Amino acid sequence: MKEEALKNLAHELEVCSQCQLREAAQGPVGWFGAADSPIVFVGEGPGVVEDDFGCPLIGPSGQLLDKALWAAKMTRDRVLTTNVIKCRPKGNRTPNIAEADFCAQRWLDKELEILQPKVVVALGGVALHYLGNPDMRITRDRGKWFKTKHGFDCIATFHPAYLLRISNVKALNAAKWDVFHDLEAARDKALELAPDYALMSEEKTDLFKLFRRRK
Ligand code: URA
Repeated sequence: MKEEALKNLAHELEVCSQCQLREAAQGPVGWFGAADSPIVFVGEGPGVVEDDFGCPLIGPSGQLLDKALWAAKMTRDRVLTTNVIKCRPKGNRTPNIAEADFCAQRWLDKELEILQPKVVVALGGVALHYLGNPDMRITRDRGKWFKTKHGFDCIATFHPAYLLRISNVKALNAAKWDVFHDLEAARDKALELAPDYALMSEEKTDLFKLFRRRK
């Protein structure tokens, strides 16, 4: 039932041109993963590789996320990944709060309403600001549980793109451990609330086998 509802929403998303962000993008990028998963990961928005392939978190950030998920005993096919905004902003800039609100109220809110996840993980500041509130700070508030505006249990962690930008080895190590512990906390809560659900497949999901360039 959730899958069917998501499929219908995906068809609507495909033809969305409700804001200017659509103009610079090849097309909207939706979500990927298991509709019945107790965990949903929310990133910021598609980058250039995601725009090319039409899949969220498939580029460098997504590859790092997949490694972190594997370490925390989760695979991409058993969770659901999505973004606050669906179209890549020109020049890959960070979307502003108005753009994030406009898009997420039309799409992300509907996805979450269908999915009814037990746990939401906000990847980075843009997701934290939308799911929580704009006064929250990723450095201060990551790793702490809060309720999203929709009433879902949510924990924030650093965005993988942030990890990719850290050049200091010590700082990078510390941030990686923080992410690992946040993912473990999310996994444990999800398994507590959905004990029969398998969050990990035997193999890592190879998104490049599942998606083709769309241009
Ligand atoms: N960064 C995100 O937040 N989401 C993506 O899909 C790609 C990069």
